[in-house]
Amino acid sequence: MTAALALLGGCRQDMHDQPKMISQRGSAFFPDGRSARPQAANTVARGQLRENSYFNTGVVLGTNGYREERDEMPFPVTMQVLQRGQERYNIFCSPCHSRVGNGAGMIVQRGYKPAGNFHDSVRRSQKLSHYFYVVTNGYGAMPDYSSQLAVQDRWAVAAYIRVLQLSQAATPADVPAGARVENLKDVTEQLGYPANFAGPWELPLTAVNVLHPDTSQGMPGMAPAAPAPPPLVVQTPGQAAAKTKTSSNPSSGRQPQGMK
Ligand code: HEC
Repeated sequence: MTAALALLGGCRQDMHDQPKMISQRGSAFFPDGRSARPQAANTVARGQLRENSYFNTGVVLGTNGYREERDEMPFPVTMQVLQRGQERYNIFCSPCHSRVGNGAGMIVQRGYKPAGNFHDSVRRSQKLSHYFYVVTNGYGAMPDYSSQLAVQDRWAVAAYIRVLQLSQAATPADVPAGARVENLKDVTEQLGYPANFAGPWELPLTAVNVLHPDTSQGMPGMAPAAPAPPPLVVQTPGQAAAKTKTSSNPSSGRQPQGMK
């Protein structure tokens, strides 16, 4: 009986000591003792070719020696490209930027730093490749999405941001001659939607405060610039003295630490 148990133990030990590499641990197999192998010299792994082209970087070398963003796509924009951009955008960007791109996505509503509102005057005047550049390299509190989105898809998403912008800032001149242009308010009324359906988006106060969108011109779809909220007065239980929170952002307490 004891011998049988000892034998069983032996079998189990074999299973534990499988000839595999465990990350961050050394290996007796290679002469240099490293289990993480360096890339073989003079080779390019699949998907790692980074040509220094506009397509890959979103910037070109300007005459002044600095890299510049451009307002152009490196390949033709077809309906298929835009649909791909829409699909990728809704998956990867809408959690923060929202489906309409106003920066009031669910993660922001839950306390993340307000994401860019693509309809404010600053974001609208940026060159197209800026959007590609931001997705590729990250921007402030926004992480980069270069490992989630292939280069081609990043451009498709950038093109789709222009679609979102046009959806809120189109003029009658943008529709083909002869097309009938109707007021959104009248349409929603006819369809029986609530009165505020076509009204301005309700952006979190923080988004309006942080990004200072230019609402003076009454941009369609934009919330009017809100006055800064009064300082929050926090009354802790059992404490008579009121503590004044100076932050103008009521949800800043929930903001992840270490963010810009
Ligand atoms: C986790 C939340 C989050 C996600 C997901 C996210 N962003 Fe952002 N984004 C932000 C935040 C926050 C900012 C503002 C950054 C700051 O001010 O620090 C921002 C800013 C931007 C800006 C404006 C940059 C500028 O110059 O002002 C662009 C463009 C942008 N994001 C594009 C995208 C695109 C495209 C995607 C999807 C691939 C995406 N973002 C996904 C959080 C996010």
